[in-house]
Amino acid sequence: MTLSPWASNISPSPTLAVDARVKELIASGEDIAGFGAGEPDFDTPAFIKDACKEALDQGKTKYAASSGVPALRSALAEKYRSFNGIENASAAEVIVSPGGKYSCYLAILATCGPGDEVLIPAPYWVSYPEMVKLAGATPKIIEVGDEQGFKITPEQLEESISEKSKLLILNSPSNPTGAVYSKDELEALMEVVVKHDLHLMSDEIYEYLYYDGLSHTSPASFSAEAAARTITVGGFSKTFSMTGWRLGALHAPLEIAKAIGSIQSQTSSNATTFAQWGALAALEKPDLARAALDEMLVAFDRRRLNLLDGLNGIDGVKCLRAQGAFYLFPNVSSFGLSSNDFAARLLEEAKVAVVPGSGFGADDYIRLSYATSDEIIEKGLSRLKDFCASF
Ligand SMILES: Cc1ncc(COP(=O)(O)O)c(C=O)c1O
Repeated sequence: MTLSPWASNISPSPTLAVDARVKELIASGEDIAGFGAGEPDFDTPAFIKDACKEALDQGKTKYAASSGVPALRSALAEKYRSFNGIENASAAEVIVSPGGKYSCYLAILATCGPGDEVLIPAPYWVSYPEMVKLAGATPKIIEVGDEQGFKITPEQLEESISEKSKLLILNSPSNPTGAVYSKDELEALMEVVVKHDLHLMSDEIYEYLYYDGLSHTSPASFSAEAAARTITVGGFSKTFSMTGWRLGALHAPLEIAKAIGSIQSQTSSNATTFAQWGALAALEKPDLARAALDEMLVAFDRRRLNLLDGLNGIDGVKCLRAQGAFYLFPNVSSFGLSSNDFAARLLEEAKVAVVPGSGFGADDYIRLSYATSDEIIEKGLSRLKDFCASF
């Protein structure tokens, strides 16, 4: 049996691998301080679960329209207009998919193919380059270190563009760095995107998770020209602790949205019908949604600052103050190990689970998620400190 070129070329997700290994170790009785999980440690808010249960009881258990339940697409269109500032966003331009990850893949499949280059600033979310390869296109990685706040500059972008460039992928707030682009920074990047007639996939899955008083900007809101070339991707997983529900969403210019709808209709049909009815409650009950989100944000912010202080208090560790998502991405290169070796030894010797930076295209770093309890943060920091002191 020979595998296809796509299958032989793809690596499994390193973040999911760490998560699976940690769950295994915990199940076998090990006391692990886990910083691997890319998911909120809160339960899905009860009012969303209730709406889903009600949908089940009402028999909403059949196929739905492939691009999404119409009521949810309309509610999302309203959210894209009012929260994201995308003027005139319509339900026809919205696609609901089985997970934000699949939304990203659809966006890439619909815009890129063989011969195209996709510009990806590194550190990047692990799945982007693999998805680009699955689409038959070529990832072009642009290195962006902590000395520039993990953010690509317009000059760097300009220098990286070739006649093959088709799509730029941005992710703000970022997984793995937690970095956040300002409105001015995004506008400057969008100017380059427009000048070179590129598409932009703006992955905004962490659009509600900001700290230090910052708030979200969607590049598609800048102008009609910007909206005409931007696919805004997101979903329900991180905002409403709904990772297991598998519900993503995107807004795209109509022609691209239609193409994405066709690809989805031939590959996955619809996202789970009753899950979509649960998600609709999150949009239709903004007060309850806001209260649940604020409770989570207060906890995340406290943990962020504790973890940040703790990390920067360890000799040899250097960490930027991330202002979004729920990750910190410290530089551990001073210990002279690859990020894989550092993370493997940290797990074996100190029982602390982190994700090596290598999978994010940044081998000097490790990723820690602070979507975990205050106790684990305290315990993990103390173990990490002892581990680092042993070098
Ligand atoms: C940057 C980024 N984009 C997209 C996703 C996809 O999220 P989901 O498929 O769980 O909705 C994730 C999840 O980790 C992410 O970190």
